[in-house]
Amino acid sequence: MGIEQRSDAGARLVPEAERAGAATMRAAIQYRYGPPSVLEMAELRRPSPGRGEVLVRVRAASLHPGDSYIMTGEPYVVRLAFGLRRPRHGIPGRDLAGVVAAVGTEVTALRPGDEVFGWSTAGTLAEYACVPARNLVSTPAGLSVVAAAAVPTSATTALQALRDIANVRPGQSVLVTGASGGVGSFAVQIAKAFGAEVTAVCSARNVDLVRSLGADHVVDYTRTDFTRTGKRYDVILDNVEAQPLAAVRRALMPTGTLIPNSGHGGRWLGPIGRVVDARLRSGFTRQRLKPFTSFGKRQDLLALAELLTAGKVTPVIDRTYALDDAADALRHVGAGHTRGKVVIAI
Ligand SMILES: NC(=O)c1ccc[n+]([C@@H]2O[C@H](COP(=O)([O-])OP(=O)(O)OC[C@H]3O[C@@H](n4cnc5c(N)ncnc54)[C@H](OP(=O)(O)O)[C@@H]3O)[C@@H](O)[C@H]2O)c1
Repeated sequence: MGIEQRSDAGARLVPEAERAGAATMRAAIQYRYGPPSVLEMAELRRPSPGRGEVLVRVRAASLHPGDSYIMTGEPYVVRLAFGLRRPRHGIPGRDLAGVVAAVGTEVTALRPGDEVFGWSTAGTLAEYACVPARNLVSTPAGLSVVAAAAVPTSATTALQALRDIANVRPGQSVLVTGASGGVGSFAVQIAKAFGAEVTAVCSARNVDLVRSLGADHVVDYTRTDFTRTGKRYDVILDNVEAQPLAAVRRALMPTGTLIPNSGHGGRWLGPIGRVVDARLRSGFTRQRLKPFTSFGKRQDLLALAELLTAGKVTPVIDRTYALDDAADALRHVGAGHTRGKVVIAI
């Protein structure tokens, strides 16, 4: 592609004249919202770490449905956070794993050469990313960069949903829909690590996968509607919301916890209508209806690193793509049928 200076994206392109000698990096970038074809490969100025930041040589970056929403700018409500007319940062991606290349003056816990994983709000589909040191932890020994990159957003969401929102205890029955997906494949393993009896809802092709993750029971949604089996669960993590809230509540214990967790919905507000509905209804029932938004926390990355090290959680990798094929990777994630995580190796 032609190189030109553009000031309208968060990342800076390097003019042809300045390229000799300049520290640059390759990155996937978008200058407007739209389908995956809006992504371009570009040579950008390599960022420098601020005082509390770490420059990471990104080796792998994983994607999740939120990256697809931010790329398309739909539901439109995402534009309030990511730029009204065009994406503010331009480089997609949030989760990364790689090697510390340089540190800011106030960073003492990490050194060049350390292997780390975590998340960045400045985009990760690039050879380098500047990340606040508090968003990174050391990669557990023996974990590949691809597996480490798969962890941050999806596993944090599963952990916070099951531990903080549902307070899952040993012996409780937990049902996970979308059990074959990014969040679900972590949720099945984390619920098992907490001692729960886990029912996984997935399609026929993923039954063996979710069993291998530890699910005690499997419901193939193409044959059986879990809301009509007469079984009731202490906790339901509904990553798909294919059934109406009222139907899902029939499968929930009278004092059970339901976490509606799908991000899809209308073109303008996405899931917000369903979130409001669940919150309003929760005032009139002993059932706990708890939609939530996960937040990246370093403490949770450390907790996940422990589960990974103990072998209680193993990331499931659907496919690995090259950086040049980032558009195909986002297309795949956007289609909503991933088995585990989609990762870009850089
Ligand atoms: N609350 C938060 O802060 C937060 C954070 C992250 C993600 N999320 C949301 O969580 C949801 C799940 O994310 P994800 O990364 O796991 O998505 P994903 O990787 O796309 O996984 C979705 C999975 O659901 C399966 N599926 C589709 N229809 C199903 C059905 N009717 N019943 C059971 N499984 C079905 C899909 O496989 P098949 O189609 O092959 O069956 C796929 O494996 C998304 O909507 C995302 O926006 C919320």
